[in-house]
Amino acid sequence: MTALLCRLVAPARVARANISISRRLLSAQAPRPSTVSLLGKEYATDDVTNITSSIAEKLGRDLHRKPAHPLGIIRGLIEAHFTGFTAISDVSPLVTPARNFDDLGFPEDHPGRALSDSYYINRGLMLRTHTSAHEVETFRAGERKWLLSADVYRRDEIDASHYPVFHQMEGARVFSNDKTGMQELANDTARLASELERANIEIEDIPHISSTNPVQPEHDPETSALVAHHLKLSLNSLILKLFGGHGASTEPVRVRWIEAYFPFTSPSYEVEVFYRGKWLEILGCGVVKQSTLDRSNVPDSISWAFGLGLERLAMFLFSIPDIRLFWSQDERFLSQFSPGKVTTFKAYSKYPPNSRDLSFWLPGTGLHDNDFCDVVRDTVGDLAETVELIDQFTHPKTKRTSKCFRINYRSMDKSLTDEEANALHEQVASRVQEKFGVEIRN
Ligand code: PHE
Repeated sequence: MTALLCRLVAPARVARANISISRRLLSAQAPRPSTVSLLGKEYATDDVTNITSSIAEKLGRDLHRKPAHPLGIIRGLIEAHFTGFTAISDVSPLVTPARNFDDLGFPEDHPGRALSDSYYINRGLMLRTHTSAHEVETFRAGERKWLLSADVYRRDEIDASHYPVFHQMEGARVFSNDKTGMQELANDTARLASELERANIEIEDIPHISSTNPVQPEHDPETSALVAHHLKLSLNSLILKLFGGHGASTEPVRVRWIEAYFPFTSPSYEVEVFYRGKWLEILGCGVVKQSTLDRSNVPDSISWAFGLGLERLAMFLFSIPDIRLFWSQDERFLSQFSPGKVTTFKAYSKYPPNSRDLSFWLPGTGLHDNDFCDVVRDTVGDLAETVELIDQFTHPKTKRTSKCFRINYRSMDKSLTDEEANALHEQVASRVQEKFGVEIRN
C-alpha cells in the first residue's frame, strides 16, 4: 500500500502537489457554484473547493457496509476476528482539516494537506483522507477496543490499483497504565503468542523500538515495547486468519514487519504479506502518540492503533484485478459474493452468466453434493457452468440440515435471458425434488 498508506508522508508528493495547484489556478476562472450538495445538505464553497461531482456521488454508497460486497465481507471477517471490539462504520466522511491533520500532529507544510492530494469542500471542511481522522473522537467517546471502517478520499490517478475513493479500517486498543492494565496486556500477549506458536506462519520481525523508530519521551521504554509486541501479535494473528485459511496450500503465511513513520504513532510499522509471489503492503500501525490520547481525555493509558486498506486486502483475497470493479453495480460482479465467504472472482465471459440459488432441506438419509451436481448436469447439460455450495446449516432443534447451492447458468454461444435461466432453474428444482424427495425452501 505504499501509494495509499504512505502517501501522507511521502516527500515525492511535494513536487506533484505544486504542479497540481498551479493547474488548478489556471482553471479557477470557471464560475464556481456557491454551494455544493453532499449527503443531502448544502455546503458553502470557497477558493479551495475542489470536490468534483463524480466524487460527491460516491458519498453514501457505503460499500463497506454491504454484507455481500467484498469490502463488507472483509470488514465482517476482521470484526469477527477481534472479539470484544466495538465496530463503528457509519461516520460521515466530512471532517475538519483539524481532525484529519492537526489533531494527529501533521506539520503545517505536510504534502497530504495540499489541494492536489485531498478534497476540500471549503477551508473548514474536507473529505477525510484516512480513518485516523476519527481517532480523537473515538478515544474521547470512551472506546478502548474499537474498529472503525469508512470510505476515505485522496486525489489520485485512476488505474487498476488506484481510485480516489477507497476504504480503510482503523483499529485501536487502549491499556490502562496501571497494574490491572499491564496484567491484561500480559495475559492477552501470552494467549496470542501461544496461538501463533502453533500456527503455520513465518514472521520476519524487527526490534519493537530502535534509534530510528523511537519510544516516545512520555513512555517507559519497557511498557512501549510490550504494547508494540501486543500490536504485532494481534496483527499477525489477523493476517493468519485472513491469508492462512484459503486453498489446500501447506505453504506458511509469510509476514514481514518494516519500520515506518507516521506523525501520530511512535514506534511505527508497516506490514507486508507474501501473497502469490509478491510482497504486499497491507497496513500501517504503531504506538499512539501520547498527545493524541491527552487530547482525547484518556489519562494514564497507552494505546496501539492500525489502519488497513480494505480494497488492498479484498483484491488479493478475492483475486479482483481492478479496483474499479468494487464500484460496479453489475450483477455479474455483485452476485458472485455472499456474506462471510471469501471466493475467487471470475472474470465475466463474453456471454453473461445467470446465477440462481436453490436451498432445500436434505432428506433424512442425507444427500451428497455430487449427487446434486449430477442431477443438475442431467437436467441442463453444459448450460450449468458452476455449482457452488454457498450456505449450509443444521436446525438446532429439528437437526435437519439445509443447503443452498448457487448455480451459474451460462451458454457458450448466446446470452441466456432471465426467463430462460428461470426455466432451467425450475427444471432443476423439480428434478431434485422428484429424485431425492428434498423440500425446496425458495
Ligand atoms: N492512517 C495511516 C494511513 O492511512 C495508517 C495508520 C493508522 C498508521 C494508524 C498508524 C496508525 O496512511
